[in-house]
Amino acid sequence: MPEVKVNLGKSSYEIHIGSEILARSGPIIKELGVGSNMAIIITNPTVKDLYGVTLAQSLNQTGFKVRILTVPDGEAHKTLETAGRLYQELTKSHAERVTPVLALGGGVIGDLAGFVAATYLRGMPLIQIPTTLLAQVDSSIGGKVAVDHGQLKNMVGTFYQPKAVLADTSTLKTLPDKELKNGLAEVIKYAIIYNHGFLDFLENNLDSIKALDERALAEIVLRSAKIKAEVVAQDELDLGLRHILNYGHTVGHAIEATSDFNIAHGQAIAIGMVAAARIANKLGIMNSQTSLRIKKIITRAGLPTKLPDIDTASIIQAMSHDKKIAQGKIKLVLPKSPGNVFITDEVSLSLIKEVLQQEA
Ligand SMILES: NC(=O)c1ccc[n+]([C@@H]2O[C@H](COP(=O)([O-])OP(=O)(O)OC[C@H]3O[C@@H](n4cnc5c(N)ncnc54)[C@H](O)[C@@H]3O)[C@@H](O)[C@H]2O)c1
Ligand SMILES: [Zn+2]
Repeated sequence: MPEVKVNLGKSSYEIHIGSEILARSGPIIKELGVGSNMAIIITNPTVKDLYGVTLAQSLNQTGFKVRILTVPDGEAHKTLETAGRLYQELTKSHAERVTPVLALGGGVIGDLAGFVAATYLRGMPLIQIPTTLLAQVDSSIGGKVAVDHGQLKNMVGTFYQPKAVLADTSTLKTLPDKELKNGLAEVIKYAIIYNHGFLDFLENNLDSIKALDERALAEIVLRSAKIKAEVVAQDELDLGLRHILNYGHTVGHAIEATSDFNIAHGQAIAIGMVAAARIANKLGIMNSQTSLRIKKIITRAGLPTKLPDIDTASIIQAMSHDKKIAQGKIKLVLPKSPGNVFITDEVSLSLIKEVLQQEA
């Protein structure tokens, strides 16, 4: 079973990636040396029905008493209110500081359960068990945990590294197509920002990935997790290098917000990645061939490359409110060639507007 280490000194941890890991999770968690014979699983009804029993059985067989706490499915429940309810449930369950919290689900569960684990009793051991492609390649790694507040996403949170990440690639087989595409957008992002060979791999294997071939899926999770782990290890608190993970995201977040989140994150960043590639091309930093290559892989993944019916002016305005803006300047990650990006705040709003309005 491949393992990726996130090197963060005393807070280092392993990402276990492979088939049927859920059924083997009990011993892996026991080996972490958590000092409790109880384990708390936080999940939602969808994921509980699919994978709750397998995880709970493995824990039972390893000697853990298991308590499953569920929250309703959806981003709308990633709130302080839900966290408050989970604190009450933890108290009722007599959870202690040493009781492990297992976040079983997509990024919503990972962020919410992570936030609860980080704050209840000033921190309980957290194990991320991501079941969406997005969560396996992105949100479960790196320790960002948060809840939404008011209209603003991820406004209240902290950095809290898990003790381990268990990415069972078999769980991806039940993923709805829309969620697969969401995750694929992040995978394409890694291939463009960090690693030349990864883009070749994606181009050669995209059909197997879309057909949910588990070997191909395991390979992209492994390659992506390695990249995220390397970036996070060099910049745990998001003060420098970690910004490269925002490729496609400055424009993408503005598109999501302007559409009232009707456009999914993966779709929005897909449009953002194409826009950034076009800007790089117009500035003479990247050749047209690479820009077309980026557009092509995004199209093949079933993701959009241009804006649907949204007013570009409102997107530009939304960008001015984004938290990634430093001193009133819009920070963009621009690709130069696959595996090679740089960050700039020199791009004019009119150029961003121009590429967003570009037809083909
Ligand atoms: N912490 C971070 O660094 C970070 C990074 C990126 C995104 N995020 C957060 O992640 C969240 C999005 O995560 P997501 O895309 O995983 O969405 P999600 O958690 O809402 O999951 C998507 C849907 O898939 C279902 N599901 C989960 N696993 C399944 C499976 N194996 N089979 C079938 N259905 C399954 C879920 O119940 C849900 O309905 C957002 O809240 C975002 O802010 C956090
Ligand atoms: Zn993203």
